[in-house]
Amino acid sequence: MAESASGPAETAAHARCDTAAGLATLDATKVSLAQTYAQKFKVGVAINGRVYGDEDPAAAALVGAQFNRVTAENEFKWQSLERQPGVLDFTQADAFLAYAEQHGMEVHGHTIVWHHQVPGWVFQNDAAAPATRQQLLARLEQHMSALAKHFGSRVQYWDVVNEAFNDDGSLRDTPWRTIIGADYLDQVFLLAGKHFPDAKLVYNDFSLEKPGKRDAVVNLVQGFKERGVRIDAIGTQAHFQLQSPTLEALDASLSAFAGAGVEVLVSELDVDVLPPAYKNQGADLSLDAELSAQLNPYTDCLPSDVAEQAARRWGDLFEVFARHSEHLHSVTLWGVSDGYSWLNNWPVKGRTNYALLFDRQLRAKQSWQRVIEAASRTR
Ligand code: G3I
Repeated sequence: MAESASGPAETAAHARCDTAAGLATLDATKVSLAQTYAQKFKVGVAINGRVYGDEDPAAAALVGAQFNRVTAENEFKWQSLERQPGVLDFTQADAFLAYAEQHGMEVHGHTIVWHHQVPGWVFQNDAAAPATRQQLLARLEQHMSALAKHFGSRVQYWDVVNEAFNDDGSLRDTPWRTIIGADYLDQVFLLAGKHFPDAKLVYNDFSLEKPGKRDAVVNLVQGFKERGVRIDAIGTQAHFQLQSPTLEALDASLSAFAGAGVEVLVSELDVDVLPPAYKNQGADLSLDAELSAQLNPYTDCLPSDVAEQAARRWGDLFEVFARHSEHLHSVTLWGVSDGYSWLNNWPVKGRTNYALLFDRQLRAKQSWQRVIEAASRTR
């Protein structure tokens, strides 16, 4: 932090950075997340090509040592697998799978039906007009069939549908819904059940601690069961902040999902420590020094009071997860280390966030240690 002429500048009333205080004192080469939680749930992580390829061997080794399940961050999305109609490219997905299998990890496929990262042609007919219900369902079936044929039983969990609800519990307006119609979720899960008979079928979404959205997902599962549509699990993403959601809201949502009679997966966990920037989405911080200082305040390191808040938050979250271990299949982190997190580039590009359990040098943080310690509090 900058020093002013009159002494140390304690801007924004934060303690100064003390990197050592933010690091674990336990030896992370001797203790792993996966082992520590082995009797409760699996601990997974989302990885990308830098990890499962040759680019970052230290991260690859760390993932192999700490986690026992993996999700490909982008490689199983429609845009990655079938950018052109009928042209399937499994190069990246296969490299990911080879890494996962070499380390004996469970594989989570993410994701088939989503409104992002789907090429435009999927929703169009040959004349570039909107596809019909039959055309889109046929395309989806062809895509699923190609995935099933290629992957077989090497993918144990599939996010069949991602993010279909608005926060108030209404159905999100997407091309999937508009074209196929109001029963599209039934149709999609029926097709998935047909093509992935051995995999667990998951509905995945964020902000499921909000009562309207949480109840909509519980109702979806109940409706599926009444209509004979198979669903095996709910994935609750858990892109959290330091204060939000409350532990009570998290606890209530995990209870509600367990009560719906399906497995529960915490599927994309991270903790954003930066000031909210939703209103500044897309802003170019390099053009506005004042805004940059406001929205990206920890470019050098994380002040020790914020690091402590984050560590406490991670411990508290895992204490709640551990209490729900009977129904919780897994907790998956959305990235290996702070440097890998999507939150460095969203909603504003080029920020320095500290959203995960290992720092940019892959050192275990206090947050990691609190997660380890939380397991013994709930034995
Ligand atoms: O692959 C292109 C590359 O060719 C190009 O040069 C580069 C230029 O920006 O972009 C690359 O694509 C990026 C892609 O990640 C692969 O790295 C996209 O711009 C970028 O937007 C995309 O972001 C991903 C995002 O989903 C897309 O919506 C994030 O990595 C990924 O972490 C994020 O994950 C989502 C989950 O799928 C669903 N839940 C929310 C979660 C966080 O947004």
